Amino acid sequence: MQRIVVLNPKGGSGKTTLAINIAAYFAARGDSTLLIDRDPQGSATRWLRKRKAPQAEIRGIATFERDSRTTMSWQMRVPEGTEKIVVDSPAAIEGRALPELTRDAARIIVPVLPSDIDIHAASRCIADLLLVAKIKRTENRIGVIANRVRKNTVMFHSLMRFLEKLDIPVVATIRDSQNYVRAAEQGVGIHEMKPYTVKEDLAQWETLLAWLEPEKVLAEQPAPLAEQPAPVAVPAPEAIIEKTDDTAAHDARFILP
Ligand SMILES: Nc1ncnc2c1ncn2[C@@H]1O[C@H](COP(=O)(O)OP(=O)(O)OP(=O)(O)O)[C@@H](O)[C@H]1O
Ligand SMILES: [Mg+2]
Repeated sequence: MQRIVVLNPKGGSGKTTLAINIAAYFAARGDSTLLIDRDPQGSATRWLRKRKAPQAEIRGIATFERDSRTTMSWQMRVPEGTEKIVVDSPAAIEGRALPELTRDAARIIVPVLPSDIDIHAASRCIADLLLVAKIKRTENRIGVIANRVRKNTVMFHSLMRFLEKLDIPVVATIRDSQNYVRAAEQGVGIHEMKPYTVKEDLAQWETLLAWLEPEKVLAEQPAPLAEQPAPVAVPAPEAIIEKTDDTAAHDARFILP
């Protein structure tokens, strides 16, 4: 069972969009998938309720909804046989909530938008993951996604420079696309839409999917991972995070932009 958590305390960075599309990808592929909605806004749960046959089933748990007919632990139980758990988290989550949220997460995805405010917020979020949740960079559990990018804009380049400085892998660069808006409206993921309408978007997901399941990539392609295409090309870094100790690579000092 693999748990994937999508988080970023900054509102509107694309957490729900990514969580629902990741869940839809696994479900469509045939994996028994559970989507945990930890956001009282309930956007992921609303999306889930729009799904209907022939779309693959995704079970859902809305942690903010209380069913008085059952106990809390029964309501929150993970169904037997679950292979993938995708967690959508709320905005404004505090650093001290991160250890609990990220415990047992094989992958933690932090979507970041190309804007000064979002870059600033993301640097705090990554700092909290490293220092409060005590996740080591070497564990390869944290991946950043540059979301809603428009390439060749000044802001895109400053976002990519910032991400390079973080020394956290950029596992996908996702364009601003109405396909995500349409998919959310229809209760589907982009992997469930007509392939010719989402060709460009699907291509951008390749690096993310490879990062989520490196074993699968290895099994399918005998070439070593080092020969896989690099997730993104990034411009030269400037110092934003200084590692304080090589032997404790996770211990970082942040100089906020
Ligand atoms: N790559 C994208 N292209 C176009 N629109 C996008 C993309 N990613 C997200 N959006 C849109 O941006 C808005 C915010 O996205 P989303 O709800 O996923 O963010 P969030 O981080 O979950 O927000 P919140 O913090 O409020 O929960 C939504 O309207 C969504 O459809
Ligand atoms: Mg959301």
